[in-house]
Amino acid sequence: MPHPEPLTIAITGANSGIGLRAAQRLAADGHRILALCRDLHRGRTALEAINTGAARPATLVVTDLADPDSIDAAAQKISGEAGHLDVLINNAAVFDQTRRTPAFTASGHELFWATNHLGPFQLTARLSPLLAAAPRPRLINVASKGLVTMPRIAIRFDRLDDPGWYSPTRAYYHAKLAQIMTAYTLALRARDALDVACVRVPAVRLDADRVAALPRILRALYAPKNRLAIPAERLGETYAALATRTGTWQQHADPAAAGRSALRGVYVDENLRPVDAPACAYDAGARERLWTVSQQATGDLPWAR
Ligand SMILES: NC(=O)c1ccc[n+]([C@@H]2O[C@H](COP(=O)([O-])OP(=O)(O)OC[C@H]3O[C@@H](n4cnc5c(N)ncnc54)[C@H](OP(=O)(O)O)[C@@H]3O)[C@@H](O)[C@H]2O)c1
Repeated sequence: MPHPEPLTIAITGANSGIGLRAAQRLAADGHRILALCRDLHRGRTALEAINTGAARPATLVVTDLADPDSIDAAAQKISGEAGHLDVLINNAAVFDQTRRTPAFTASGHELFWATNHLGPFQLTARLSPLLAAAPRPRLINVASKGLVTMPRIAIRFDRLDDPGWYSPTRAYYHAKLAQIMTAYTLALRARDALDVACVRVPAVRLDADRVAALPRILRALYAPKNRLAIPAERLGETYAALATRTGTWQQHADPAAAGRSALRGVYVDENLRPVDAPACAYDAGARERLWTVSQQATGDLPWAR
């Protein structure tokens, strides 16, 4: 059923998996979708799928989150398209397990850190004036349930782009931890001005073309996992529920509480139930340090409130 007030919603990684399903669902409900996709061709194909059944046509914004110039250009395009932004969903991520050796962006950052943390951080800062112009803005970051097996994971502040500790799995979860911590920082800073959530995504079925592109050995490993994983549509519903909710995370939080309890409700599972993050995310000093290094790495951008 169409939403009573159509929202303007930007979603990264809108060309496949969960991002595509969320975009389709939200577009069908009458919202205006700004579909941020890395590749023009894949983006155009996705736009057709999103617009089938959409109440208003979606807009494609080609954006490579590993490229700061591309992020700036995307933010500029979005500013030209929309006077405000109701929701930003930082969904895109690289989790290419075939990347056995580290890669570095033109800015010198390790690829997973650049794509999965610095890129969304820069994009959120760049779009913060448009979010601030919305009546009830919302930000949704995306992390992973795999972090429950890593309660002691911490941000490697002195070795952020150091290839010495790299493995694709380590680099992926390290950047996902940063997504939760950034959500906590923004939730505490913005309070009523921004409804912030971070979704703990469980194992979700990958699109067939994603699996087909894997080397044979990884394909064989993924096949049973993929069969048991939940459909991407299910997480698309989770994103849509968060993007259109009327309450905020603070309804789950205790304003008088300190530490973990004060942040309860920001990090949620696929059913929107509050869940715990790794211990490092509750360390206010670590969060502040992460903010500082992320600001420095992305050009000390101003944040609109
Ligand atoms: N699937 C799972 O089991 C699972 C589990 C935990 C968490 N998650 C999280 O859920 C989110 C969605 O994943 P998914 O399952 O839907 O995977 P997916 O189908 O592989 O989607 C990932 C999206 O990210 C985009 N992307 C990758 N690198 C990018 C870059 N440099 N710039 C812009 N976009 C880029 C991809 O674009 P291209 O098509 O151009 O590559 C794609 O659209 C991710 O944040 C992921 O970490 C997934």
